[in-house]
Amino acid sequence: MKIATTIEEVRAQVRAWHKQGLTVGLVPTMGYLHEGHASLIKTSAARCDRTVVSVFVNPTQFGPGEDLESYPRDFERDCAVCEKMGADLVFHPAVTEMYPGGQTATYVEILDDMPKQLCGKTRPIHFRGVCTVVSKLFNIVQPERAFFGEKDAQQLAIVRRMVRDLSYGIEIVGCPIVRELDGLAKSSRNTYLSPEERKAALCLSQAVRLGKKMVLEGERDARVVLNAMRNLIAHEPLARIDYVEAVDGETMAPTDELYDNVLVAMAVYIGSTRLIDNFSVKLQEG
Ligand code: PAF
Repeated sequence: MKIATTIEEVRAQVRAWHKQGLTVGLVPTMGYLHEGHASLIKTSAARCDRTVVSVFVNPTQFGPGEDLESYPRDFERDCAVCEKMGADLVFHPAVTEMYPGGQTATYVEILDDMPKQLCGKTRPIHFRGVCTVVSKLFNIVQPERAFFGEKDAQQLAIVRRMVRDLSYGIEIVGCPIVRELDGLAKSSRNTYLSPEERKAALCLSQAVRLGKKMVLEGERDARVVLNAMRNLIAHEPLARIDYVEAVDGETMAPTDELYDNVLVAMAVYIGSTRLIDNFSVKLQEG
């Protein structure tokens, strides 16, 4: 497995692979890899001839006062995970390599309401930063496929929309949420939780389970399901709800009706750590 820090090294390697007729998969990450990332890398390695993992904590997707500086980093461990899961190249650029002079005047941004829903309500510049860095990574790596986790469901929908709107010839593959044994969705930010908060954080996956069960039992009114989920979370003293909402899985438009592929998503503060979780309504499972 190779490690590249410059755009030129990545371009040269991918050019060589494409010349040999090999397909390339990209797994964009911000590092501090957990089993969720590992499953993305493994899926890419199974579906593509070569896999590139980018490890880059992208400053343009963090707002003022967010955790850019304290975001956990462990590049050595990340490399070990990448190698074990079958990655061929890790791209680990400096901020100045991705953003000459440390900044950018050019952004990629979806201009309708899609990035303003859910996480966009409290993180107004987040998805503009995500679209900008993902589009740069697509231009640098030029992969045939790119792999994203369904835990960041709004991000996944937004990337799909960007790819469609800007005619990137890249297949976007969504991969299922990976959970701890007790249900907590894997996240690099779980590392911020104290032992007490770690227990309290279970209210997110419990709310997901409750919501799913109500849908399976036939409830189709989103307001009823969301209220039950909010009540469950409200019983946890360390939890503070940012949002628990139901939106169309493709457009992110709010909905009161639970039809197939509606996304039921939440962001909840546990202490000062903001965690997200979600499920997609699958009516055929009922
Ligand atoms: O999901 C993430 O870790 C980031 O938002 C991404 C897609 C790597 C862009 O920085």
